[in-house]
Amino acid sequence: MISAYSLSLPPCIAFGAGCRHRVGEILRQQAGSAAPRVFAVCSGSLRRQGCLDEIAARAGLSFCGVFDAVPHDPPLECVDAIMEQLALTSADAVVALGGGSVIDAAKTAAVLARVADRVRPCFEGHAAIVRPGLPMVALPSTAGTGAEVTPNAVLSDHLKGVKRSIRSPFMVPVAALVDPELTLSLPPEVTAHSGLDALTQAVESVISRQATSFSRPLATAAAAALWGHLERAFLDGADLEARTRVAEGSLLGALAFAQSGLGAVHGLAHPIGHALSLPHGLTCAILLPHVLRLNLPACRETLDALATAMGRRDAEDLIDGIDDLCRRLGVPEGFAPYRLAEADLETIIANSRSGSMKANPRDLDDDTLRDLLQRLS
Ligand SMILES: [Fe+2]
Repeated sequence: MISAYSLSLPPCIAFGAGCRHRVGEILRQQAGSAAPRVFAVCSGSLRRQGCLDEIAARAGLSFCGVFDAVPHDPPLECVDAIMEQLALTSADAVVALGGGSVIDAAKTAAVLARVADRVRPCFEGHAAIVRPGLPMVALPSTAGTGAEVTPNAVLSDHLKGVKRSIRSPFMVPVAALVDPELTLSLPPEVTAHSGLDALTQAVESVISRQATSFSRPLATAAAAALWGHLERAFLDGADLEARTRVAEGSLLGALAFAQSGLGAVHGLAHPIGHALSLPHGLTCAILLPHVLRLNLPACRETLDALATAMGRRDAEDLIDGIDDLCRRLGVPEGFAPYRLAEADLETIIANSRSGSMKANPRDLDDDTLRDLLQRLS
């Protein structure tokens, strides 16, 4: 475990039922104005449900523009479209209300708003993000990605067939308002997928090579909270206590993995998700037990300790328990239902060598990854 680290976190993190209503006060402070010009990026369904209007009315805000058409796995063109609309509004701040895709697209558009009109040069590493953009406040409506506190955004380049992160310390939102009430209307399938993403992130953070004495206790607490409450939230979406513990697990896990990095599940999940157009959390959940079994020789002691914190006997018992939980939450045992083809494997392996893979506790060579993917096909 690493004992030297530096933290790059949102200056304001609020958690709890109703905290979304602090957004007006925070945006007024950030913009230095009693009537800030705020641009909203919002999920289409939350806008239709009136959630954005409710928040705006309670916060005394009116928006100078709203973008509500962010698809899953946002493509570069979506970020360009937000930047184009932002440029027309002379906004002083951005608010994002939605899941990880909405927050990631908004974060990227906000940081580039004053310095670029296209995201591709940054995404391809030809241009660096060297200064802050517009202040951005994130209100996550799912409990899973942790995008509200991380310094990166996952974007898809459909032209070149890749999905990966764009990263800068200036992409950390100025405020993350994590309000579990926003997750009450999530359908069970989204609850399961986003919650299993959060569980994967927490477990990968605990065993990461780059885990620190800051990140590991947070990630352990996150894994325990998710373990104890995700199934309850899945079975009864209106259970506010379960929703609260799951949202907190997601937040704590994200604070941890923003420092520690992730692991081979996330290294593989992006190229597999891209190849099969699968939800990110579902892809992670299918991989998690299998990757943990591969990693076990390199992190047995740490996984044993995590198992104890989660009320399981030992590492093997924990991995079996995760496998069982995935089945109860409707996750299949492998990728066979989604037709993972032999022809896709080499591209997936080639595109899996990200920062996440470097943080994995064990080096996994191409042959080991190929064998794993063939077993799951
Ligand atoms: Fe994830």
